[in-house]
Amino acid sequence: MSTLRPFFIDTDTASDDAVALVMAFARDDINIVGIGVVAGNVPLSSALQNALYTRELCGRTDVPVYAGADRPLIYELGTAQHVHGDDGMGDIGLPLTDRTPSEGHAVDALLEASNEYAGELTLVTLGPLTNIALAIQRDPSIADRISRVVLMGAAADHIGNVNPVAEFNMWVDPHAVQIVLESGLPLEFVGWDISRRDAVIIPEEANRLRSIGTPRAEFTIDIQRIVAEFCARDTKLAGFDMPDPIAMAYAIDPSIATQTRHLNLVTECAEGPTRGMVVMDLLGFTGREPNAVVVMHADHSAFIRQLEAAIS
Ligand code: RIB
Ligand code: CA
Repeated sequence: MSTLRPFFIDTDTASDDAVALVMAFARDDINIVGIGVVAGNVPLSSALQNALYTRELCGRTDVPVYAGADRPLIYELGTAQHVHGDDGMGDIGLPLTDRTPSEGHAVDALLEASNEYAGELTLVTLGPLTNIALAIQRDPSIADRISRVVLMGAAADHIGNVNPVAEFNMWVDPHAVQIVLESGLPLEFVGWDISRRDAVIIPEEANRLRSIGTPRAEFTIDIQRIVAEFCARDTKLAGFDMPDPIAMAYAIDPSIATQTRHLNLVTECAEGPTRGMVVMDLLGFTGREPNAVVVMHADHSAFIRQLEAAIS
């Protein structure tokens, strides 16, 4: 009986997802049983190559990487290449081609892992929820077998990064979000508000982290080249933020969260100005049952310590 906590990670691998993977790959207290890849930040083929490159950089070719959905359930795919670069990894010329994923589909791999590690599995989602929704549609009883679902997504302050009120992962496939919210899975959201407030890397800190000098340290900082420009120009942050890495840090060590709440969440699926908004009933107006734990504040220093350990 392994004492390691089994993790399954679902990702639309771009520059922040890759750092979250570096953090997970560095741990000796978790067993990454599989990585599922989904279209989101970049088309599926790029997200797959980015995950495979990151796995190789970290010397973790023991971890299977599976291709998943190449588009949302209903909407056409909308990517974030204007945020992360055409290749999703800062367009710095990394050799992100010709690597081979594992046989099989990410949804099948997730369902198999939920059976093999029933009651123990932590699912960490770093991208749109298309693969998760497909798994629920295939086998709704998955909700009884997964121990924790930690999701980078939504925002408790309802401030969006793809429209004024929607966070990107939720916006790409809101129909998938609604299926997940209604599934009964034990959901724990780490929103973009947490990233903007508690996971911003200012230039001085970026330089200090890069000066650790390992290939993973230089990779972690260098691939943020384009997202740093987006943050300075569009989201007006003092540096680049790391949404997926702080969600991964919380999945690995829940004490990263200094405040959480149990809330009712619903999502807007209709096309229009609020598409992808995840409405959080902060004051309990609706009387609807809470269906998710939401991280309200996180510990920046603890996050940096975990990141630093992973790239040293
Ligand atoms: O809104 C931030 C999220 O969208 C992150 O997961 C980022 O990688 C993109 O997928
Ligand atoms: Ca992501």
